[in-house]
Amino acid sequence: MTKGLFITFEGPDGSGKTTQIHKVAEWFKNKGYEVVLTREPGGTKAAEAIRQIVLDPKFPIKAECETLLYLAARAEHVEKVIAPAVAQGKVVLCDRFSDSTFVYQGLTRGVDMDVLKTMNAFATKGLIPDKTILLDGDSKQLAVRRSTRGVEDRFEMEGLAFQEKVRHGFLTLAKLEPKRIVVLDAIRDQDTVAADIFKHLEPLL
Ligand code: TYD
Repeated sequence: MTKGLFITFEGPDGSGKTTQIHKVAEWFKNKGYEVVLTREPGGTKAAEAIRQIVLDPKFPIKAECETLLYLAARAEHVEKVIAPAVAQGKVVLCDRFSDSTFVYQGLTRGVDMDVLKTMNAFATKGLIPDKTILLDGDSKQLAVRRSTRGVEDRFEMEGLAFQEKVRHGFLTLAKLEPKRIVVLDAIRDQDTVAADIFKHLEPLL
């Protein structure tokens, strides 16, 4: 059996990842692929329980603890869901992955990047996405989008300066790995963004 595909979706909060990942799932299914749609933190029972802790404003945890929780959730997720599905030839679409840790805990919260890379490689057993779609957009415009969505999690409550750092963190990573990370303008009509994503995924088929 040939190896499947592992595609991740990244971007600041409110960039429309969730909408787009569903469109991409339909696109692959229509082409006859078996698709696994999943998210981080989450994807397994234990990882979803960790998600509850890490996103709850009632638990004002610091960067080190936050990092370890995200990585614990990722280790579960890779071992039980992502790696087996890719090995079975499926297309795995994941809403956030390692790049979110490098951006949020590393470039934004200031956890040492070398430490993060080592620990992340431990958690993922070295698994790297085949392609990463980075949905980018002006932080103020994304904040307006988020405000229409209701209750905010612990990260969305951080304010504009934090979201700006996040945006620039993602763009910095994209410059370092231009082949893997595709940067797309998220502040467009949803179908236009989707068509742009399909264009970049087509060569992987
Ligand atoms: P997510 O559910 O994707 O939120 P949204 O749909 O609002 O984008 O992600 C939850 C939050 O967790 C998000 O603010 C980013 C943060 N996060 C990290 O800080 N580090 C990580 O490794 C991951 C996976 C997410």
